[in-house]
Amino acid sequence: MTDRPRTLLTAVRPEAQRDLYGFYDGLRGAGPCYWDRVVSSWVVTGHELVAAALTDSRMSSVRFPEPDAVEDGLRRFATVISRSMLYRDALEHARLRRAVSRTFTARSVEALREPISAAVHEIIDRVRPAGRMDVVADLAVPLPFNAICALIHAPEPDREQLLAWSNDVAAAFGNARLTAGEKAAADRGVAGMAAYFDRLIDRPEALLRPGDLSRDEAVANTILLLLAGHETTTHFLGNALLALLRHPGQIPRLATDPATAIEELLRYDSPLQLVLRRATEDLDLGGERIGAGQPVLLILGAANRDPAAFPDPHTLDLGRTGKARHLAFGHGAHFCPGASLARLEGDIVLRALLDRLPGLRLAEPELSWRPSLNFRGLDRLIVEWDVR
Ligand code: HEM
Repeated sequence: MTDRPRTLLTAVRPEAQRDLYGFYDGLRGAGPCYWDRVVSSWVVTGHELVAAALTDSRMSSVRFPEPDAVEDGLRRFATVISRSMLYRDALEHARLRRAVSRTFTARSVEALREPISAAVHEIIDRVRPAGRMDVVADLAVPLPFNAICALIHAPEPDREQLLAWSNDVAAAFGNARLTAGEKAAADRGVAGMAAYFDRLIDRPEALLRPGDLSRDEAVANTILLLLAGHETTTHFLGNALLALLRHPGQIPRLATDPATAIEELLRYDSPLQLVLRRATEDLDLGGERIGAGQPVLLILGAANRDPAAFPDPHTLDLGRTGKARHLAFGHGAHFCPGASLARLEGDIVLRALLDRLPGLRLAEPELSWRPSLNFRGLDRLIVEWDVR
């Protein structure tokens, strides 16, 4: 793809989304770490450098300036979200993360296996006679959202409102060009959720309760779980099913070694394409001099297709072996604490769809991707199958 000037920003265009990994290969021509004048950030596409940056304590996750310095319209958003672990560093990050992992455990994830499985089969029972569905709207959106609501014990009648707020807030993430209306909606959404969870966290069954955490921190991190656990998994389910339907010869491997297969699907088309850090001091990365205060975009999706880390990176190989680990869940201190829940959902959903819908295939070869730099996901995924 020839584009002048060569910039990551082009990735939001539909034609770039259609060949995203070819587009990244073009960016690699500028080196594994380069200064992108259009987005005014360093852009890192090399696997080794992205992994190194993710474990470098001089790369800060603190994103929000003091709330007073935040422009009007996003002040409540910044105040609440900045208290979550995602935007904290070092000891403070570790304290918040410890408090969350005390209740968000392997056991709490395992307890969701049965309800998730029941929900998936219920959806399949409902749509099966029609012979056609939109996997995104019918399954990949509601399933992860309900799973995360079950984890944080948000009662069913409240979920529709929570989803509406969450969509408004999610629209503000990673979008540098928000309209005044979108800002106001994100701000209202976060205020709505903050007031809601401020009541919910007093219930004995709440996942995060004031104690190890302050009240505000319990609220902010519950909101983080809701936001982080929902859209990423939606995209994972859609992208993974698409990859399988385009490579039907690989499908049997999902049954023989599901754990390896799920990791390869995450590498192949990662739901979250980038994370942002800011250098706290001057440092070297891949021979480039990064200045104190400069932003650094770590392109997980490009690192996961780096030929130096993954031989034949554009080939889906559900039995892939090798030393390099994919970075779809990040790496280091902020490594995704929801990884095992996401893997569980992927395993249940993909196997149930492929087992129960005979002849499952794409019904519309023309795909429409979300125009986003950080999320990689389909607007819809229409499939059909044989009805007997
Ligand atoms: C962090 C990806 C599902 C909760 C992260 C990070 C990535 C990621 C890349 C690191 C961000 C950074 O370093 O700045 C994904 C993907 C998912 C997924 C691809 C689905 C396939 C989930 C789920 C949950 C969750 C299901 C909750 C149940 C979180 C939280 C953090 C996080 C709380 C912040 C961790 C920290 O700052 O220490 N996720 N995630 N994620 N994720 Fe996930």
